[in-house]
Amino acid sequence: MEGFQTRYDRYRAAVEEALQGLFLRNEPYGRLQEAMRYSLLAGGKRVRPVMTLAFCEALGGDARRALPLGAALECVHTYSLIHDDLPCMDDDDLRRGRPTCHKVYGETMAVLAGDALQAEAFRLISQAPGLSAEQRIDAVRALSAACGGDGMVAGQVLDMDGLARDEASLRDMCLRKTGGLLGAAAGLGCIAAGASLEVRRQALSYAEHIGLAFQVRDDMLDVIADQAEFGKPVGSDRAEGKRTFVDLLGLEGCESLVAEETRLAREAIAGFPESGFLLELADSLADRRK
Ligand code: IPE
Ligand code: IPE
Ligand code: MG
Ligand code: MG
Ligand code: MG
Repeated sequence: MEGFQTRYDRYRAAVEEALQGLFLRNEPYGRLQEAMRYSLLAGGKRVRPVMTLAFCEALGGDARRALPLGAALECVHTYSLIHDDLPCMDDDDLRRGRPTCHKVYGETMAVLAGDALQAEAFRLISQAPGLSAEQRIDAVRALSAACGGDGMVAGQVLDMDGLARDEASLRDMCLRKTGGLLGAAAGLGCIAAGASLEVRRQALSYAEHIGLAFQVRDDMLDVIADQAEFGKPVGSDRAEGKRTFVDLLGLEGCESLVAEETRLAREAIAGFPESGFLLELADSLADRRK
């Protein structure tokens, strides 16, 4: 039987191959594609597209159909990271173990590379082979809602404005800024598999609990990680004056919250016929070191 890591690596390799074929140089604006590929192909765990492929297969679908949707999602995620690192946002110099996009290509090109990655994601979905027109529209709706003005971008606004101070508002911020794209990861896998609305609701619940756990773990790693392994600056939240779950609950409180949200994520998909990989994925993210 295929073990957890082998299956993760199989999904991840498929995602890398799909991404490698994107945004090849177009003169005279080839520096744009170079900047897009610089950030997109810098590694990264590929958790979101892996989740998309895993949901598709767990629900009896063909993962190849989900691949363009996963690639599109990774483009949106990468755009969000490029913009998140800009001096006007978190002002970070290191991402995925490399200098950030704006450090190499300048702020103007980093903004534009992010813009283009976002738009190209929706082009990829609109052209996804093997999916019906209804599935493509459904995927566009799911991803745009997740990353748009009530989703990831709204979460970034709450983060930048420092409006989230108590547990309820920090939860809401994390659900939007991080849970949104993870929810889309699950949703896109369900769409590619042609899953029922009830199954999709359970998948979304799994992903939203993971989203909260994932961001709390990220906030913990901002304090306790080894920077070389983490691939981004440690101590960035404090330097930027961010209030995170670590300030509210302490590291031990955060550990309990991650454990509880992971338990709830697992519970949400307990009724799935084939859930082993997704259950292990939840556990592996809870104590990740990068
Ligand atoms: C980083 O996401 C941004 C957060 C939501 C915390 P990841 O931890 O998935 O980053 P990569 O894609 O592996 O670089
Ligand atoms: C950002 O959260 C999540 C995004 C929507 C990009 P963070 O600002 O904590 O992410 P990192 O730590 O820079 O990856
Ligand atoms: Mg940020
Ligand atoms: Mg950041
Ligand atoms: Mg962080």
